[in-house]
Amino acid sequence: MSVKKIIFSNQKGGVGKTTTTVNLGAYLAQMGHKVLLIDLDSQGNLTSAVSGDPKLPGIYEVIIGKCPASQAYQTTPVKNLFAISGNINLAGLNVELVNELAREFFLKNSLSDIEKEWDFILIDCPPSLGLVTINAMCWADHVIIPMQCEYFAMEGLNLLMRTIGNVKKQLNPHLNILGIVFTMYTARTRLANDVVDDISSYFADQVFQTRIPRNVRLSEAPSHGLPINVYDGSSAGAKSYESLAEEVLSRV
Ligand SMILES: Nc1ncnc2c1ncn2[C@@H]1O[C@H](COP(=O)(O)OP(=O)(O)OP(=O)(O)O)[C@@H](O)[C@H]1O
Ligand SMILES: [Mg+2]
Repeated sequence: MSVKKIIFSNQKGGVGKTTTTVNLGAYLAQMGHKVLLIDLDSQGNLTSAVSGDPKLPGIYEVIIGKCPASQAYQTTPVKNLFAISGNINLAGLNVELVNELAREFFLKNSLSDIEKEWDFILIDCPPSLGLVTINAMCWADHVIIPMQCEYFAMEGLNLLMRTIGNVKKQLNPHLNILGIVFTMYTARTRLANDVVDDISSYFADQVFQTRIPRNVRLSEAPSHGLPINVYDGSSAGAKSYESLAEEVLSRV
């Protein structure tokens, strides 16, 4: 199996990008795949969610050429699951890259040596469509779009789809949308169901069958530095990410 390169992107904040990257990655690893997570967000949330150390050289140092990617691997509480950390230095990267030649391809070039070591590389993007996210889109084969079932969800989606379309046309013809996953879903509310119906009727097969429910165990797990399969594998949140992992495997 050749490496599957997936990014988790939505410029809207707090929609479940990090939670989805970590827990999907954890289940893929538990199923026996060798998985590398990369934290491309200056908030470093993914790093802390897997007990990573943001002070060690991370993806920023890798991108600017200060540290080879293979020396930035950190272990996590899950076997087969490794991470490259992110930290506050990433916040300045959009500006640092802007005058560079081939500025959209720094991430891609910095990862090319290590890709064959992995079954999956999953990248958690920041909540923006800036140059750092464009670098992720120029590297990836697949985008997963986590979406919260709320009224404003649809508005940002058009811009995100247009950006992905432009990158595909001009910079990375391999890029495709693997799917939209609904997060923090509450079946009881009419609004959640209306949003799901709207988006599902428009995007049809691109929507994953699995919906991630709102689940308190999913929100507690990061404060313990543990993915959900380790923190509480019997929770509803855990089951949903396990099911999402199976669906992703059937699509890649
Ligand atoms: N299914 C869920 N049930 C309950 N809480 C959740 C769920 N998914 C995510 N959360 C919580 O919602 C918050 C936002 O989630 P997360 O950090 O994954 O979003 P994000 O899109 O990565 O945010 P940002 O845009 O800031 O990077 C976090 O506190 C997280 O623990
Ligand atoms: Mg995040």
